[in-house]
Amino acid sequence: MTSTVDSTLQVLFSREQIRHRVAELGRQIDRDYAGEKVVLVGVLKGAAIFLADLARSISVDNTFDFVAVSSYGKGHQSSGAVKLIKDLDQPIEGKNVIIVEDILDTGLTLHFLRGLLDQHQPKSLRVAALLDKPSRRLEKIEAEYVGFSIPNQFVIGYGMDFAERYRNLPDICLMPAEDS
Ligand code: PRP
Repeated sequence: MTSTVDSTLQVLFSREQIRHRVAELGRQIDRDYAGEKVVLVGVLKGAAIFLADLARSISVDNTFDFVAVSSYGKGHQSSGAVKLIKDLDQPIEGKNVIIVEDILDTGLTLHFLRGLLDQHQPKSLRVAALLDKPSRRLEKIEAEYVGFSIPNQFVIGYGMDFAERYRNLPDICLMPAEDS
C-alpha cells in the first residue's frame, strides 16, 4: 500500500486514493441528504483541505462555516480540556450540519464540538472524518462518514501538520520517526 516518494516521506494514501474516497463520501452524503440542504462545519486548520474537496464532491445544496478549538497539548500530559476559540458565523438551528474533520483521534475534540453544536438545536448533526484512529479513542464517539481507518501512525499532508508544516502535501504521508 505504501510507496516511497523521496528519501524521507512515505505515502500512506496517494492523492488519487484520496480523490476516489472523497468522491465516494460525497455520493454517500448526496444519497443521505437528497432534497435537503447541508451546512459543512470545518474544524480549523487541519480540515480545510478535506472540506474544500468534500464540498466539491457534494451535489446537494451546501454552505460552509468554520470553528476553531484550542489544542490541548497532544503528546504531553494535559487535562484534555478543549476550548472554542472561533465560533460559528451563522446560526445552525433547524439545519442539517456535518462537522468536517481531518482526523478523529482521541475523540476529545469531536466530543466537545458535538455537544456544543447540539445545543444550537440543528435538525441533524453528523460527522465526516477523513481519517479515523479508533485505537486512540478516549471518548466514545464515532463519525458517520469515515474516509480511511488507520492504526496509530503520525500522518502529515492533505491539511495535517507537524509543527504547522506539511499541510500542503497533496498526499497523506507518514511522518518519519526521526523527525517527529
Ligand atoms: C487535530 C484534528 C482534530 C483533532 C483530533 O487538530 O484536526 O481537530 O486533532 O484529535 P482528537 O480526536 O484527539 O481530539 P490539531 O489540534 O492537530 O489542530 P489543527 O487542525 O490546527 O492541525
